[in-house]
Amino acid sequence: MEQQLETLQQQLKQQEKLASLGMLSAGIAHEIQNPLNFVINFSKMSDKLLKDLTEIVEDNEDNLSEEDREEVEDIVADLKDNLGKIVEHGERAISIIRGILLVSRGKDNEFLPTDVNKLVKEYVWLSYHAMRANVKNFNISIHEDYEEGMPQMMVIPQDLSRAVLNVMNNACYAVWKKSQAADTGYQPEINVGVKSDGDTIVISIADNGEGMTEEVKQRLYENFFTTKPVGQGTGLGMGIVRDIIENKHGGTVSFLSTEGEGTTFTFTIPVRK
Ligand SMILES: Nc1ncnc2c1ncn2[C@@H]1O[C@H](COP(=O)(O)OP(=O)(O)O)[C@@H](O)[C@H]1O
Ligand SMILES: [Mg+2]
Repeated sequence: MEQQLETLQQQLKQQEKLASLGMLSAGIAHEIQNPLNFVINFSKMSDKLLKDLTEIVEDNEDNLSEEDREEVEDIVADLKDNLGKIVEHGERAISIIRGILLVSRGKDNEFLPTDVNKLVKEYVWLSYHAMRANVKNFNISIHEDYEEGMPQMMVIPQDLSRAVLNVMNNACYAVWKKSQAADTGYQPEINVGVKSDGDTIVISIADNGEGMTEEVKQRLYENFFTTKPVGQGTGLGMGIVRDIIENKHGGTVSFLSTEGEGTTFTFTIPVRK
């Protein structure tokens, strides 16, 4: 009894920490947006200035030696390249921040007409980019299969996106983990699918990663159960996912997993009219 109480207290403490961490990161994310927008906008402006510069150089071609002209052209090309990269990576950071804001902003339990394909796509790529930003040599191929012409569905977008993000993060980690151990022939792959089946939406995320042992399968939804090193996993993800899909949306979460070969998670969500 005493031991249980102590564990419970520890869990509570951990959850409080996580909640304040969530608020903190939402605050930080919000603050970072502005300077990041400056970086992107000034890079775009500089790109325009480079065009003007190029024109001036072209008008004065006769005053420059062949060698100088070539050098100027090379430098301008490099600068353009660099600016393009600044914009590209800046925009990637913006999209990650947008995700953090969405995940940590409250507004729970609100069913809204949602383009589920778009939502899934957004969070699949958010997860991918976050993983790429954190892990060196993270290279996977992602295949997506979205049913066309699907109408808007009534879901809780905040929550559904969080569920997709959690499962996708796990899938990314599982393929990365396997790639660390596997021989060179291994090609990490994640397949994402969204379709409607009668009056249900079916979302599936399949990875060819490390798969699960029997113990992991048994304990998957247990709070604080994780096989990841400290700092990389909290063991809260799957519990939250199940709460979101089953309790909040009245759907089901199911999975198939083979150790060493991969895992498929499927959300089946009844369509609300
Ligand atoms: N796609 C997957 N492939 C292999 N193992 C998985 C996968 N998804 C979840 N797991 C296992 O379930 C555990 C619990 O997952 P989760 O609740 O999301 O917590 P966390 O990701 O913080 O460890 C993971 O640590 C991992 O062992
Ligand atoms: Mg997780």
